[in-house]
Amino acid sequence: MRVLVTGGAGFIGTNFVRQTVRERPDVDVTVLDLLTYAGDARNLDGLDRVRLVQGDVADTAVVDGLVAEADLVVHFAAESHNDNSLHDPSPFVRTNLLGTYALLEAVRTHDVRYHHISTDEVYGDLELDDPARFTESTPYNPSSPYSSTKAGSDLLVRAWVRSFGVRATISNCSNNYGPYQHVEKFIPRQVTNLIDGVRPKLYGAGQNVRDWIHVEDHNAAVWAIIEKGRIGETYLIGADGEESNLEVVKALLTAFERPEDDFDHVTDRAGHDMRYAIDSTRLRTELGWRPRYTSFADGLADTVTWYRENEDWWRPAKAATEARYRASGQA
Ligand code: NAD
Ligand code: DAU
Repeated sequence: MRVLVTGGAGFIGTNFVRQTVRERPDVDVTVLDLLTYAGDARNLDGLDRVRLVQGDVADTAVVDGLVAEADLVVHFAAESHNDNSLHDPSPFVRTNLLGTYALLEAVRTHDVRYHHISTDEVYGDLELDDPARFTESTPYNPSSPYSSTKAGSDLLVRAWVRSFGVRATISNCSNNYGPYQHVEKFIPRQVTNLIDGVRPKLYGAGQNVRDWIHVEDHNAAVWAIIEKGRIGETYLIGADGEESNLEVVKALLTAFERPEDDFDHVTDRAGHDMRYAIDSTRLRTELGWRPRYTSFADGLADTVTWYRENEDWWRPAKAATEARYRASGQA
């Protein structure tokens, strides 16, 4: 099987490619990645059966040629960081909307199976005391430029399924953590701050809740959907990992043997979503998926170890990332 993985040099895509090479000897992988600030070719160094093509998912000629050679497309490539989307939405519109459009046209032309990676943020947010969780029928209500472009890309997929019979599935996953995540994101930012002896930075009061899932569990679910999912369907991916940001910061401070109040409150994110929570019943009952990381504490400890052991990987991006946060009052 020949799989085209877009964004395969980013956080989740890298883990997907590495897991695929490890567990599926029958699969050859082509990665299409623009290698933006968030992509790193080193992540794929030395992997067998992996070819890296540096290019833009919104470039129709490049996309058409690569899709024509593939049996399956898994589309991870995106501009992925909410804070960046508040400062400059333009690459989000181009990559997330036009990139998805280019891929859909190519899979339509060549009749190639397509899996679309998306986010729970398309559903907006929940109140802290709301017993509800997101399901596949929750109405779309995105808050940020990032989440609205992801919502738009999902709707393009749904329209291409219905109008043109494209063979596609969609997954909407909650917050991922694990190795190879960029230091701009919440957990790697605080872990690398702590390694540097810098206090963690909490937006606002830190009451916001995210539903954490280990990246390996996300990617195992993606393969389950590719192999057993119903064409045209959406599957929500989540591992019952709700934690407030404050709880996460305290857990990290404990891991670094620092006092629980040794952090700074910084300027809150504009329009900051309060809570995400996933009901993954469909994925579990229809496809039999279960998360392997059932303890967030254990997964977090593994992740801290990875960042301690891979400073050469994250160090080059750290100073520029913190300079960006300083410029927006979030340092
Ligand atoms: P990331 O920012 O770490 O990686 C994105 C990758 O896409 C990078 O390698 C980057 O170089 C590449 N890319 C960006 N623009 C491109 C373009 N125009 N053409 C080709 N490649 C391009 O993102 P991530 O966290 O790995 O997220 C991957 C996907 O998963 C995204 O679609 C995101 O919306 C979705 N998602 C992420 C999370 C999460 O918690 N990180 C949760 C749910 C869904
Ligand atoms: O829910 C899935 C989404 O999760 C994905 O679609 C996005 O691509 C991914 O980036 C992530 O979005 P969030 O905005 O939830 O993740 P982020 O890591 O940026 O922030 C997590 C929470 O931590 C959020 O409430 C903001 C807060 N935060 C973040 C940073 C960087 C802080 O309190 N301090 C920080 O320094």
